[in-house]
Order: sequence, then structure tokens, then C-alpha cells
Amino acid sequence: MQINATRLPFFLGILLISQLIALYANTVFAAQRPDPLVIAHRGASGYLPEHTLESKALAYGMRPDYIEQDLVLSRDGHLIVMHDIHLDQVTDVARIFPDRAREDGRFYTIDFTLRELKQLRVTEAFEGDIKALTPKYPKRFPLWASSFQLSTFAEEIELIQGLNKSLGYNIGIYPEIKSPWFHHAEGQDIARRTLEQLKAYGYTNRDKKIFLQSFDAEELQRIKNELMPAMDMDLPLVQLVAATSWGEKKVRQGGHWVNYNYDWMLEANGLEKISGYADGIGPWAMMLVTAETDTIEGNGLTRRAQALGLQVHPYTFRADGQRIPGVTHEFGAILALFISRIKVDGLFTDHPDKVRAFIEQR
Ligand code: G3P
Ligand code: CA
Repeated sequence: MQINATRLPFFLGILLISQLIALYANTVFAAQRPDPLVIAHRGASGYLPEHTLESKALAYGMRPDYIEQDLVLSRDGHLIVMHDIHLDQVTDVARIFPDRAREDGRFYTIDFTLRELKQLRVTEAFEGDIKALTPKYPKRFPLWASSFQLSTFAEEIELIQGLNKSLGYNIGIYPEIKSPWFHHAEGQDIARRTLEQLKAYGYTNRDKKIFLQSFDAEELQRIKNELMPAMDMDLPLVQLVAATSWGEKKVRQGGHWVNYNYDWMLEANGLEKISGYADGIGPWAMMLVTAETDTIEGNGLTRRAQALGLQVHPYTFRADGQRIPGVTHEFGAILALFISRIKVDGLFTDHPDKVRAFIEQR
């Protein structure tokens, strides 16, 4: 289009006004949008052995919005805060109870009483045999240094609630019910036990600062539609999303355990279904991006979920471990991508201090 010289000021005026409108809209949008939630993943696990009370206290001092607890059951029905149903990659169980492994060579938390579990020493996560001493994260706290123990969910809630009282903050809890399928197979109802414990500590409704999470869609629907109504509870739920190949959940098929298929969750109908029982999704961070060799962008999943009213809390952001192949290893650039461009609603991180600092400085 040719612009007549006499009409040039008119077009420049239109251009200026449209730019001012865009600037105003961006400013208003940014002002209305709350900061993303900082979720301390297994505590300050980048600095101290995961899920120890020491790691949770250190995380608390970093002022996250929530502190995460992964939950499994002991033989005598106590909720233990630990990530795996196995004890052998973070404790000395193979040394203290060498005869208590199952046929697969693993030591299961559910085979031990709380009294026995309290005899174990906890360390940074290691790989392979206890004698091999190969740390999972070489730059983190030294293996077997100092003295750490397993703790119960009750002990951890009392720590966080106690600090909320003594320091005056309101930091929430973000428990994950681990492997309901496994606990059911062992004759245990871990979801019910978790809700009972939460109720005992006052987490009964949405006024309390809590999200309850699980990788198990069927169990979350049972919690939403059966357990919580029966217990007069109403807590926000988060559907965690795994890759099928990880084997995060197993189902019986033809007499065998096979991997549950997660593919439906990230499809349009899947997200819609999730929005019927959950308040948010917790996907692996890489599920939210499309990575080419020299560029990386959001793939639209975050916006689609948010349009359905779902919060998006991806995992796991690690200053010493996050890698986006071929694109960046720099933690600040990764946070800028997910926080400023993709605009997630919360982040699970092993380094809550670094994520909090990024949010405050941006
Ligand atoms: O629960 C969010 C995140 O922790 C999921 O991964 O395996 O560390 O529990 P995982
Ligand atoms: Ca977890």
C-alpha cells in the first residue's frame, strides 16, 4: 500500500496508539498474573539429603510457597516421607538388615516397622550397590556425611506448622501419594491413610495451604468422588503426568504387571477429563516444550491446560542437573523460558533459593 505524504501523520498516530495499547495490555496482564509458586522438591534437596527434616528446615528458610512430601507406608501403617517404595538408594538398609531383601534384591519400606526404619541412616541418593559409593548428583552433599534419619509425615507436618507459628510465614505442604497400585497390592490403602493424617492436622479444605498430588488418575478420582466427600474434606488435587516408559504406575494385564499408559493425559480430551477432578497438572517440564536443535519454545500445552482452569506445575528444575539437549545448560535461561515465556503457575525445584531469587529479580 502506498501512503500519501499528507496522511503520514495519521498512520504514525495509529501506529503509536496501537503500540501504547499493546504495552498497556502487557503491563496489565503482567500485573494481574501472580508470581509462579516455588515448590521445594523433596525439601532443599539440592543441598541436603532429600526428604530429611534438615532438608525441609533449610528449604523453609528459602521461603518457598510449598514444601513437597513424597509418601509411602511402613509395615505398621505409618506414612514415611521418602520418594521410593524402596529403601536401598538413600539408606544403609542393606548393611543393617542384610537378610530382608525381597527376591528382586530390593528392600521395601512396607516390609519394615517404623521402629526399624528409625534405625537406618539416610544419605544423599546413590546409584548401584551400597559398596560402590556412586553419588547420583556428584556436586551435592557428601555421601554418608553427618547423620540423618527417615521421618514420618506427622513429624514433617509438625515441623512446617511449627515454623509457620514461630516465624510467622504461611508455607504450605504438597504431599504426593506414592504408588497407590503397589500399596493396594500389599493390602494397604495409602490414599485413605493420607487423608486421615491430613484431617488430623487441620488440612480439610481449600482455606489451608495444600495441594495433594499423585501420578494415579484413578486414585485421584476416587479421592475426589468418594474419599473426600465421605470424610467431609475438599482439597485441591494435582494430576502428575509421567512418560509411559517410566513405569510410574503398573496395572495387571493377562496375569502380568505392565506400564500404565499415560498418553491420553496430554491430548485435548485428556486435559478436559483431568479438569473434571483436578485443579492442576504436574507434567515433566520437557512435556511443555518443543525443542529443535537451536531453538526451544512452549508447545501450547500450558495455555491449553490453563484455558481449562488447570494450574500447571512442572517438575523438576535443578541448577546442577537440568539439561535441554542442544539448547541450554544455563539455569537462568531455563527459568526465563518456563517462567517468563511459557508462564507456568508453579515449579518443583531442588534449588528453591535460586528460583525465588530469579522471581524476585525479574
Ligand atoms: O511430584 C512432582 C515431582 O516430584 C514428580 O517427580 O519422581 O520426583 O516424585 P518425582
Ligand atoms: Ca514427588
